[in-house]
Amino acid sequence: MSDNNEAKKTYYISTPIYYPSDKLHIGHSYTTVAADCMARYKRLKGYDVMFLTGTDEHGLKIEKRAAAKGVTPQQYVDEIVAGIKDLWSIMDISYDKFIRTTDDYHVRGVQKIFKELYDRGEIYKGAYEGYYCTPCESFWTKTQLKEGGRCPDCGGETQLAKEECYFFRLSKYSQRLIDYYNEHPEFINPPARKNEMIANFLEKGLDDLCVSRSTFTWGIPVTFDEKHVVYVWVDALSNYITALGYGSDDTSLYDKFWPCDLHLVGKEIVRFHTIIWPAMLMALDLPLPKRVYGHGWLLLNGDKMSKSKGNVVDPVVLVDRYSSDAIRYFLLREVPFGSDGSFTPESLLNRINSDLANDLGNLVSRTVSMQLKYFGGSLPEAQNRLAAPLDDEIIDLFKGLKARVEEQFDELQFPLALAEIWKCVSRLNKYIDETAPWALAKTEEGIPRLAQVLYVLAEGIRIIGILLEPFMPNTPGRIFAQLGIAGNDAIISWQSAENWGLYPSSAVCVKGDPLFPRLDIEKELEALEAIKNAAAPKPAEPVKDNKQEGAKKDELPEGVITIDDFAKVSLKVAEVLTCERVEGSDKLLRLTVTNGEKEKQIVSGIAKFYAPEDLPGKKVILVDNLKPAKLKGIVSEGMLLAATCEGNLKLLTVDGDIPAGSSIS
Ligand code: MSP
Repeated sequence: MSDNNEAKKTYYISTPIYYPSDKLHIGHSYTTVAADCMARYKRLKGYDVMFLTGTDEHGLKIEKRAAAKGVTPQQYVDEIVAGIKDLWSIMDISYDKFIRTTDDYHVRGVQKIFKELYDRGEIYKGAYEGYYCTPCESFWTKTQLKEGGRCPDCGGETQLAKEECYFFRLSKYSQRLIDYYNEHPEFINPPARKNEMIANFLEKGLDDLCVSRSTFTWGIPVTFDEKHVVYVWVDALSNYITALGYGSDDTSLYDKFWPCDLHLVGKEIVRFHTIIWPAMLMALDLPLPKRVYGHGWLLLNGDKMSKSKGNVVDPVVLVDRYSSDAIRYFLLREVPFGSDGSFTPESLLNRINSDLANDLGNLVSRTVSMQLKYFGGSLPEAQNRLAAPLDDEIIDLFKGLKARVEEQFDELQFPLALAEIWKCVSRLNKYIDETAPWALAKTEEGIPRLAQVLYVLAEGIRIIGILLEPFMPNTPGRIFAQLGIAGNDAIISWQSAENWGLYPSSAVCVKGDPLFPRLDIEKELEALEAIKNAAAPKPAEPVKDNKQEGAKKDELPEGVITIDDFAKVSLKVAEVLTCERVEGSDKLLRLTVTNGEKEKQIVSGIAKFYAPEDLPGKKVILVDNLKPAKLKGIVSEGMLLAATCEGNLKLLTVDGDIPAGSSIS
């Protein structure tokens, strides 16, 4: 198909919407840079592109973070989202729309979708009992949990939760989804992820999905039952259509761009995009996205980066130091797309030095220097140049390059597309060594051949510059400026990379700064380490005695703690299961309680106030993260809160029915 025909087509690509619970790290940049590269490529091919990204702002985690910081959830996310937009700006992310799930139009759109599903009988009211993982905002059944009751996705703690909620009839879609996958083999990529979805979820049969929560408020209210907010994944997934105006008065973008051509997501959220999302769309009678691609993770020391594990790399630092193009190149080149791969500062610095400074940078600077030195900047016309058989090999290699790069784009194989380009970069560097222009320049007879050699180099670099545009948006312009062809649209268009011989003899090249200065790797490693250490949280200062030193301005008055201090204490509702006296003690009771996740043994000095038979079934307040201690030789794994007054003692409890495991804040 020619590019002219394709110019009439649309292309809709999305990234996941990111949780603004914290600053984003280089792993998040990975998804966005890949989507940006694809969006830029499609625009260069003449498509009318809609590139959507944004933020997923609701949920318990954000509500808690905001509370710990003493701000409202909206204030909390506003600050982080501003930082995310700055990050995308310095990384040259060319999104067409940035959606926030707190945007009014999205809120209204989700409310309409939820009501529509309810009216169609696809959502019904019930009660849920399951294990909830707050970071993943997901419920799990006991059999799905990892060892120790941990979340199968993130490995974090889960909590047993029971609550009234609305359910989506996901269970009825298992077979329809399998059929859909089989009829549309291109729907899930890479193909292994499709098999994973079928074997791990669909063939086992899906359960209906809890789609509302009533135990926190930071979410989109269900219009017909305001006690409930919409479960985050239904809220989040709907962004792909509300961003286009679905559910509003103006659906022109929806009509133009839906169904989406590509949802690009990390592998851990393929499940949501290939099971829940298509089932929701089926229930709404809407078309399904054409393709979902689940890429691998960028690992640091063999582990997925995550702020809670403290193993993140800040993209802002890297971009400031090495440029957006260098970081984008690394992200798109280093790891086979679809697989996991490692980030190390060494691998980044080596890539910059070898591929960018040496291979590409030297090729451009040597070529431009020779063109200036031997021909004053402009090359002779074709009739004054002398071709040789060696040139044909190079020309053939370049003639097919655009097609080879495009083939890799179709499979999202960004690293392989770059590898194709770099084969040509290396071939030109070798061509310089083979033809030895400096020797040709020594004799009058050598000049026509020298002119041709430099022409092959300039023309090859022109094509390389064009094909680099989706990957590194700033470098091509700098290359074209040095070749003297900046602004000459006809010969720097994507389409023109297909043709050999367009570099004009009228072009006057100009010496420029090195594209990528060579780095001193040792020094850079030290500098990066120093930056990391400066950003790491400082070890706690020894507590100062205000009375002795006098309170300084920023210190807290004695006895006052910050919300962060308070947030360190994990308070949980626990249910007493058994209770007995501790032999040889008239003060201690030995209790077993459940904190919603597991049973714990507690030794408590309340025997004078409660008989053992009073306590089983009682909901009490447990300090859940207290270091275990031994009392009368028995390990106590927590502490129960109690109020005392004039020799009396009463255990603290909760005002109403709430499941064991509920957090207290
Ligand atoms: N909010 C959900 C997505 C909702 S989409 C309707 C979410 N947010 S996230 O912020 O946790 O992650 C967003 C994306 O970043 C995911 O695709 C995830 O895979 C990606 N990455 C986060 N860390 C990553 C790496 N270390 N490596 C590669 N991608 C990673 O999930």
